[in-house]
Amino acid sequence: MSESILSPEHYFDAGIFRAEQQHIYRKLWIFAGIKQLLAEPDAFLTRTIGGVPVVIQNCGGELRAFENRCAHRQMPLQFEDYGQRRLACRYHGWVYGDDGTVRSIPQEDALYRYSAAERGQLCLQRFALRTVGNFVFVNLAASPAPLETQFTPELLAELEAISAHFSNDAAFARIPARYNWKLNWENVLDTNHVPYVHPRSFLPLLPGMTAAADAAVPARPPATDVSDLSFSTRSTYKLDAQAWHAMVERFGDTDNYYNFYLYPNINFISLAGYVFLIQQFDPVAPERTDVLFTLMVARERKRIPALPAILWGHMKGEKRVLDEDIILLERLQQSLHTQDTRARHGVYESRLVDSARIYARQIAGAA
Ligand code: FES
Ligand SMILES: [Fe+2]
Repeated sequence: MSESILSPEHYFDAGIFRAEQQHIYRKLWIFAGIKQLLAEPDAFLTRTIGGVPVVIQNCGGELRAFENRCAHRQMPLQFEDYGQRRLACRYHGWVYGDDGTVRSIPQEDALYRYSAAERGQLCLQRFALRTVGNFVFVNLAASPAPLETQFTPELLAELEAISAHFSNDAAFARIPARYNWKLNWENVLDTNHVPYVHPRSFLPLLPGMTAAADAAVPARPPATDVSDLSFSTRSTYKLDAQAWHAMVERFGDTDNYYNFYLYPNINFISLAGYVFLIQQFDPVAPERTDVLFTLMVARERKRIPALPAILWGHMKGEKRVLDEDIILLERLQQSLHTQDTRARHGVYESRLVDSARIYARQIAGAA
């Protein structure tokens, strides 16, 4: 048995939440969205990363990440999760160029009278952006560590290969939940919950999974580096054959359930290479998480007229499974109290133990 190094405070304390924002979310490469939804000129997406509002904008064909905050009075430039609109402020009409500098200010001479030096300072802060296949990652650090130090080259190659199969259309949902984001990260690492929490929804799709089989985890060396916390697995998936499967270019040729864990807050899965779901556990507050779903099918050989209905059907199915988790995780969050009681991990939970150890090192500012 190993008692968790994380105390209840790690799941509700505001100071610890701020340390996470600073040392994890404003330091690591954080997934922000998929390229498909940013393909057109002036297509954009917005996220809040480490407490900082961020906009990713298609600037003349190039994706760029900026702070989503007008240089005038700090108004967000783009409001929606996804959209298509030039980089302009709704408040007083300032318009920004592709490089994030202010291009035009209505009635500038009459109303503002900035000096040339002041005018030169008016621009949006830009952040580092990297794409891995169709995944878009952003890093808010002043000098970001290379993406390759956060994810192994093998994992990056896998992500690139699988995301090449994403279709051009995706469904997106933001689902609010009342628990700390780490409970959801730990929950997806802990596949032993599936037989108990999802006996009718998810378990029947995973024929290889029983509580006993899952507990027989091969021994691994303990993780020492942040890149050890992201990995992929595959298991057998019970595929329900659908007519539209013949109309897409699936990833792989095996009925696998592909599972990618991308620290700190992504669980990306594929159902037999036909359906892809990116789940992100987005920290909103110490006891609030938005679960962001981005759902796609494999790229189409020809147009699938029923695609919206197919995406909607899978979204409903995935939401049902998530709701089963949310019921438990919200209870777990509510049961945390200031008395120092801790999880007692069995050997099968070595991934949680690794994750907690490296996380604790990070929030202390040591890694
Ligand atoms: S706040 Fe953006 S133009 Fe005034
Ligand atoms: Fe679950």
